[in-house]
Amino acid sequence: MNVTIDLKKAETYFSEEDFKGNREKAGEALCRLLTMEDHDQVLGWTSPCASREELEIIKEKAEEIKKEGDLFVLVGVGGSNQAARAMIDALADGQGPEVLYMGNTLSAHSVSKMLKRMEGRNVYINVIAKNFETLEPGSHFRILRQWMKKRYGREEMAKRIIVTGTKGSRLEEIAKENGYLFLSFPSSVGGRYSAFSPVCLLPIGAAGLNLDKYLAGMERAAEDCRVNPSSNPAALYGAARNLLYGKGYDIEMLVSFEPRYSCLAKWWVQLFGESEGKEKKGIFPSSAIYSEDLHSIGQYMQEGRRNLIETFVSVEDPGARAVIEPDPEFRDGFDYLDGMDFDQINKAAEEATLNAHWKGGVPCIRFLTKTMSEETFGELFYYFMTACAVSGTMMNINPFDQEGVEEYKRSMFAALGKKV
Ligand code: PA5
Repeated sequence: MNVTIDLKKAETYFSEEDFKGNREKAGEALCRLLTMEDHDQVLGWTSPCASREELEIIKEKAEEIKKEGDLFVLVGVGGSNQAARAMIDALADGQGPEVLYMGNTLSAHSVSKMLKRMEGRNVYINVIAKNFETLEPGSHFRILRQWMKKRYGREEMAKRIIVTGTKGSRLEEIAKENGYLFLSFPSSVGGRYSAFSPVCLLPIGAAGLNLDKYLAGMERAAEDCRVNPSSNPAALYGAARNLLYGKGYDIEMLVSFEPRYSCLAKWWVQLFGESEGKEKKGIFPSSAIYSEDLHSIGQYMQEGRRNLIETFVSVEDPGARAVIEPDPEFRDGFDYLDGMDFDQINKAAEEATLNAHWKGGVPCIRFLTKTMSEETFGELFYYFMTACAVSGTMMNINPFDQEGVEEYKRSMFAALGKKV
């Protein structure tokens, strides 16, 4: 496996016996989830959720975009862009077009800036919306259609627009009426659980990432969860955070010393925030990227209120070297670093932080990732989504709905004059 979990610096905050009991409960919750009656309603993500045929179509289109396009516009918000963004931000290395994220803001300044960035570029667009009523992607799609029509004309624009939506939706009709490629957003998969569906597969393929390796990572983690229900990283993580929550630890920071994991952290915040924050319950999720954020939030982590859990995502091999050569001429006071690789320094900072926070009263959980790769993301996404579903179940809330976000929408739509 590329991903393992280390709970040594969390275990000192609870008894072995309590943890054993909670591990069993987490394993039972996981088994219940995998076999529950309405599995097909919300758990489509626990197995690959693009058919073989659809996967071939996605690969073919991704190749075309890579070959022909130099700007790929991903239109989506929340679960409709976060997983792809996390992977592209971490792994894309110029093998595909530049990716521009739209459909995720209502700022006039941002929208006009994005449209300017499209000028003179060879553009492909993927519009992703499960429920084609969301304001940001819907409004951006209209602007983009008009832009594409002016730039390419109806026929040429049709091959450059790909639409990912629910079968039977208005979005599918629009795709059919206009000859756009339509990919399915499975109804049994919620936005924030859509990492293994066409929602994520087309964008990461277009950005040059390897879909087979990614899905192989997912399958490995899924198998681990099936075969070892109470000892896989998802169950262990779910059990530990649930136990800590019961002891008053109600804020969790996902942190990493690898900035390339910053969009993964954003994805994780959405997953846990939207899934658990209900019925006045749930651990509040936040994130930080070290070492930079040690110079801000680090103070609070060390000495602030002791209700914090810190979950590290560590990288064994960052895949690059950057050595500090001696520079005796300047006597800058940094000679102790002579000959060191930045990775060695980064790891020393990580170990020191982990120890200091742990000793300072913060239970620290650690996910260790061997390399940053497609396989690793396949495993990480699967374990985190499973842990989230398990944690929600253990808290007795429904981790798959998000009724709360409708509240602000009602008054916003009323203010904008939307007829319901
Ligand atoms: O996880 C979720 O369900 C949400 O975050 C959605 O992904 C988000 O609200 C976007 O929804 P839609 O794809 O319907 O526009």
